[in-house]
Amino acid sequence: RPMPADALVIFGVTGDLAYKMIFPALYAMARRGALNVPVIGVAASQWSLAQLRKQATDSIRQAGRVADRSALDHLLSLLQYVGGDYNDPGTFKALKLALGDGRRPAHYLAIPPALFATVIKGLNAAGLADRARVIVEKPFGRDLASARELNRIALSVFPDDSIFRIDHYLGKEAIMNILYFRFANSFLEPIWNRNSVASVQITLAEDFGVKGRGAFYESAGCLRDVIQNHLFQIVALLAMEPPAYQDYAAVHCEKAKVFQAMRPLKPDDVVRGQYTGYRKEPGVAKDSDVETFCALRLFIDSWRWEGVPWYLRSGKCLATTAAEVLVELKPPPQRLFDDSAPTDGRANYLRFRLSPNSAVALAARVKRAGKEFVGEQHELYLLNEHMGKETPYERLLGDAMAGNGALFTREDAIEAAWAVVDPVLVTHPRAYPYKPGSWGPKQADALIAADGSWHNPTLV
Ligand code: BG6
Repeated sequence: RPMPADALVIFGVTGDLAYKMIFPALYAMARRGALNVPVIGVAASQWSLAQLRKQATDSIRQAGRVADRSALDHLLSLLQYVGGDYNDPGTFKALKLALGDGRRPAHYLAIPPALFATVIKGLNAAGLADRARVIVEKPFGRDLASARELNRIALSVFPDDSIFRIDHYLGKEAIMNILYFRFANSFLEPIWNRNSVASVQITLAEDFGVKGRGAFYESAGCLRDVIQNHLFQIVALLAMEPPAYQDYAAVHCEKAKVFQAMRPLKPDDVVRGQYTGYRKEPGVAKDSDVETFCALRLFIDSWRWEGVPWYLRSGKCLATTAAEVLVELKPPPQRLFDDSAPTDGRANYLRFRLSPNSAVALAARVKRAGKEFVGEQHELYLLNEHMGKETPYERLLGDAMAGNGALFTREDAIEAAWAVVDPVLVTHPRAYPYKPGSWGPKQADALIAADGSWHNPTLV
């Protein structure tokens, strides 16, 4: 069993990620009595501890948390601050002093990836990397080459099981349920393959724009921002083979194999879109071709999935905010009833609702009352009402500090996922304009036409 971290160090503690995600998660942990180690913030600015405490308090209020004064005071009492340049060995000396008896710190790199190497080298030189963990956030690189370089730097100092790469989708209840639902039930396995599955669709729709993150978005685009990571992780959980033994390392192995079996994308497999008005956002180029919408067709060249198309789609400023998976099944081998063609909808399907709520639905045809053998499609609907109180960040931060790597991503998987999208990161058709509030450009409909049509998640 790994030993829990005895201190949490947050590089970039004055930044956006700490403000939006890390402080609220720490507060929630403090409320549960699950945070009892020093929390040392590091940043380049010369802040006072009082300033850091105020920032933490503001962030927790901003996140809409009900103030539990004693939990907040407890968190504030754990905070320390070290200010200094990451290139200056003096900064790491001061950190070592602040750590005191701490021997197994978890270092959270809430900083731009361009600074990772400097901080990792600084930690190593100061002897602060031994027995330590490092927590990093996406983006893990912006293409295959940069991801390899990042991994090389991290692995030159930390063993892989001490590196915790956060993809917050893996900490979501509904996404953890995919793994559970697949392997805790017996009825799925016989149909979960190319013999019964006609196609799979995954949609992650958001009805808002880039929300002031124009400059970041210009360097990323939809494919890098959510598809190569969040959506691909969902594909891996849906497509993986059963883990060969009962340990999360086995799950990681099977997930990595899915990425390795994915066919690298070609420009024809990708439709990019951009909502009208994006070019007027602050930080966005007037002639930007960055995509705010991306749809793609993917194949997994494995025994199980050969020939089954996977359609993935995500976008900003779409008609709704929801995430859903639709696994469409093949029709029965013969048409016994005149109505058995899916005229009133689709063939049988399984639907995983991932957000904003968590549900699983199975659509099946049922006979209508009367002497005719005519029916209609209905959903057997399973709503998971207990979404849990833990947010993904709280769960993942707690896991990283405890040394539990189950919900994190592994180096080989990330690189294999980049290898799939790498061929279309630069070479691709232009981004077609689409109207905010729509379902993206019509070219995306053409992409899926040979296998049906997009399933647009509704509010249920
Ligand atoms: C982030 C992306 O990783 O995920 C955002 O950078 C996106 O652009 C977000 O909006 C979606 O996450 P969630 O948890 O709100 O579905």
